[in-house]
Amino acid sequence: MSLFVTFEGSEGCGKSTQAKILWRKLVSSGIPAKLTYEPGGTPLGNRLRRILKEDGGEDLSSLSELLLFIVCRAELVDKVILPELRQGKVVICDRFADSTTAYQGYGRGLDMGMIDYMNQLATRGLKPDLTVLLDLPVVEGLERKSDSGVDRFEGEGVDFHERVRRGYLELAAREPGRWLIIDANLPKSEISRIVWGRVIGLLQQRR
Ligand code: TMP
Repeated sequence: MSLFVTFEGSEGCGKSTQAKILWRKLVSSGIPAKLTYEPGGTPLGNRLRRILKEDGGEDLSSLSELLLFIVCRAELVDKVILPELRQGKVVICDRFADSTTAYQGYGRGLDMGMIDYMNQLATRGLKPDLTVLLDLPVVEGLERKSDSGVDRFEGEGVDFHERVRRGYLELAAREPGRWLIIDANLPKSEISRIVWGRVIGLLQQRR
């Protein structure tokens, strides 16, 4: 009974916390689940993550940055996500292809046709069954992150992050059946209750 769930959102939205909570609830209910993340989740992906997250580290062009995210995804899909789904697990991924569309497409302004093609290559056409978007006003998210150091993306201006947020909302509006938009200002427990309800509903439909 495999299911592929992704978490998306701008900086400081709390998606990693919610991805972990969902994973713990599934495992403690006896439902086999795998939690992973992007960029990273494989040995090569984790090495590239350090390059991609550093601020003042590698001076990457926008195209090189895109290609590195695509390499991370191709590794993760082939070596982790597809094998775990084939074993019938619920796979939870903290960020996936929609992050590239939001950050490199809407944020950096790279060509959307090229991004869709690259995402298609890296994912082999795999799409999440459910994508949870934790939506938060940009300034609040950046404030939440400000005490944990600044990386390549957190250091971008407010305008960049506004484009990313708008991008996510546009993507969600295009495929309302796949996306679940949740106000990231709701209490943690309320957010996890809403996510749990949707995931259990999807698993029951598949029985
Ligand atoms: P985080 O997941 O730890 O928040 O950090 C990942 C950062 O990388 C975040 O700022 C979003 C960014 N990112 C992209 O720009 N494109 C992508 O495809 C992915 C997966 C992440």
